[in-house]
Amino acid sequence: MKHLLAVDDLGRDGIVEVLQLADSFVEVAQRANPKVPALRGRTVATLFFEDSTRTRVSFETAAKRLSADVLSFAAGSSSLKKGESLRDTVETIEAMGIDAVIVRHSSSGAPFQVAKWVTNSSVINAGDGWHEHPTQALLDLYTVRQVLGDESMDCFDGLQVAIVGDIRHSRVARSQVAAYSALGAEVTLVAPATLLPPSLDGWPVSGSSHDLDDVLAKAAVVSLLRVQAERGSAGFVPSLREYTAGYGLTKRRAGLLRPEAIVLHPGPMVRGVEIASEVADLASAHMTRQVSNGVAIRMAVLFLLLGQGSIGGIPGGRAHEEYEGHEAMGLHERVVAETEPGIRDYEEIDG
Ligand code: CP
Repeated sequence: MKHLLAVDDLGRDGIVEVLQLADSFVEVAQRANPKVPALRGRTVATLFFEDSTRTRVSFETAAKRLSADVLSFAAGSSSLKKGESLRDTVETIEAMGIDAVIVRHSSSGAPFQVAKWVTNSSVINAGDGWHEHPTQALLDLYTVRQVLGDESMDCFDGLQVAIVGDIRHSRVARSQVAAYSALGAEVTLVAPATLLPPSLDGWPVSGSSHDLDDVLAKAAVVSLLRVQAERGSAGFVPSLREYTAGYGLTKRRAGLLRPEAIVLHPGPMVRGVEIASEVADLASAHMTRQVSNGVAIRMAVLFLLLGQGSIGGIPGGRAHEEYEGHEAMGLHERVVAETEPGIRDYEEIDG
């Protein structure tokens, strides 16, 4: 696989590979020095043409923890302002010797177009319009599996997942539906009719509902979405107050959740609209854990596209290439000290 543009690029087996690889990188994150030399000599560029807090910082952290160099492109202060095209911008960045470009764009399909223009680089979709946000879905699944404490992927079989909110305009929802359904989960979409897609033909979901109270009583996972004002969503509901009354995870509704239910939100969340502030702070709400896991998931994706050697038997995408005498990706290390229980220092072992 050269690019990651949509969840379907991975399929079930690819999703499983990413989640299994992420297990190794979660372990790396717990080290005193949470860095491995897997992508030493590689350069990763983040090209964000739309705002981001989590995804950009997460990809940049992931690349740095893999020892890649990171080039952070700031669209707002670039020559795009002088009329340079997206294509010329991408070709200029790639000419500097880039191995991967991570693209966020407000237009659906922009990363697909970028993938046609690049010659050598891998392209990763970091969110395109309403279309897809594959690494968000992967980190959501990883978080669910981690909370359920399942080392296999069996936890997804028949898992009742409710995706609640502005499905119509949500790239996260599209990627989540593809990923959860690929692993056997049963997804219900919950939204007012105006915030559902005009048709659910071809969506691998169990169905849709306008009755959040009813769905909450059955759901094992409740994944909330923001009303996306930047995509005009506020015009699809009478008012945000009415939206919250019908579809917000209020304190009263949190009382309807199953005791073991997992509450997720991709962020940024708007407290008081799709989720009450006190609900966002409950132990069953795992937004901070999602962010932490996002780094491990993105390390796994970067390794799968650019890495040499293998981890846990899973080869990196450039496993066939020479890598300065390193047989693998840098988990060839030994513990030299345990600074506190579970936190270990490592030193590299050559070859
Ligand atoms: N979840 C997500 O994509 O957040 P950002 O927009 O902050 O990157």
